[in-house]
Amino acid sequence: MSIDAFGPGMISSIGEAHSKQRKLINPVFSSKNLQRVTPVLYEVIHRLTRGIRTLVKDGTAEVDVGRYMGRTALELISRAVIGRSLDPLTETKSHPYAEGLKTIFPAIYSLSNYFQFYGVLRPFIPSPLRRPLMNMLPSRRVKGLLQSIDTIYANAVTIYVEKKRDVESTDQVSEIEEAPGRARDLISILLYANARASEGDTLSEEELIASLSTLIFAATDTTSNALSRVFDCIVKRPDVQTKLREEIMAAKQVHSGGDLSYDELLALPYLDAVLRETLLTRPAPFDFANSTLPLSKPVRGTDGTFMHSIFVPKGTLVFVPVHAANTNPALWGRDARQWRPERWLAPLPDALTEAKIPGVYSHLMTFWGGGRACIGFKFAELEMKIVLAELLSAFTFEDAGKPVAWNIGEVVYPTVGQDSPVPAFPMKVTAL
Ligand code: HEM
Repeated sequence: MSIDAFGPGMISSIGEAHSKQRKLINPVFSSKNLQRVTPVLYEVIHRLTRGIRTLVKDGTAEVDVGRYMGRTALELISRAVIGRSLDPLTETKSHPYAEGLKTIFPAIYSLSNYFQFYGVLRPFIPSPLRRPLMNMLPSRRVKGLLQSIDTIYANAVTIYVEKKRDVESTDQVSEIEEAPGRARDLISILLYANARASEGDTLSEEELIASLSTLIFAATDTTSNALSRVFDCIVKRPDVQTKLREEIMAAKQVHSGGDLSYDELLALPYLDAVLRETLLTRPAPFDFANSTLPLSKPVRGTDGTFMHSIFVPKGTLVFVPVHAANTNPALWGRDARQWRPERWLAPLPDALTEAKIPGVYSHLMTFWGGGRACIGFKFAELEMKIVLAELLSAFTFEDAGKPVAWNIGEVVYPTVGQDSPVPAFPMKVTAL
């Protein structure tokens, strides 16, 4: 995700500038703040449930669950982070900011051959000249990309200015965090913290504006395709779907069928096991590193000596096949490649726990590890659990018999057939 089209956000920054952003943004995703946004997330999912119910009515209908997950993930993150609705989930048209965010990656992808040359030339082009030169290129694709960048930037600036004004008129953090219906979004919490950070720790306006789009972008396709994958797995295993629904319904009975609290939701063992098991298949298939790579087992070099780590010279791009760590039978046992949520309900193999996998989430490298690990993994876990708890309480999901293919791109995504460029996953949905 080496993308700097949003400006100096977390994904595109390195070194001290990156650490500074993490230091300030990490606490925004604390459990306390996630509890605060939980009602907002529920509100979005109730809207989604109503939307799907109008399609299904009291019977069965084919619903493109994959497409709904894309729209839902975008709406969840935008409501939580910027406090704005970018997709009503009922109409087909979404907000221009959402359209810009949706079109930017395909636009970059369509120019990937040119970017290889641009990467070499870029250091020699002074930064003030880069945009005027891009404007002069007579390419429709470049113009499309620039249009997406401009739309995203203009919308991020508008939202930033409004939020900043709101936060500046606030003296107490409790007004930001607690006030019902007011600035109860994560970006306001970040702006409040930034305004009170010590000199040297504060983020610039450009960094804050870039953070809006970076967070929304990083959260959307990853989460939506991981959710589609969960639905794929539970459709193939109706026994798991039934058991999961029973666990959710039993927990909801305490609230007469109403919403589970943040703690109750995160404490459901089978829901947790299903999610972890699905996340073993990583939505983002590769990662990169440029430092010294430690090896889990020594390997013999061509000169006969054993190496325990490999030095990677600065600037080398290394593909790290994370999936191999997530499905290594030597660590996970002989059933490593089977989808078996039950593995999480028993003690995990000693080989796995002793391997000290450096991932931030449950021995998995799915959210990466170390100083560039996913900053939103707890948010992702929460939102996915809410989606599953609510949709499985309202509907059953079955295979619609369509030839769904899983494609490897920046994230792994489903399409109907191999050739379609549009993520989709139709399923037979029946109202309960
Ligand atoms: C299932 C969902 C998700 C998966 C599998 C995922 C995975 C990842 C991975 C593997 C990285 C490291 C990327 C790299 O360095 O190349 C990453 C970084 C990042 N993720 Fe996620 N992510 C998910 C959801 C989210 C959500 C919901 C958010 C925001 C709320 C988010 C925000 C970020 C950000 C900002 C970074 C950059 C961190 C940095 O450079 O320090 N992600 N994610």
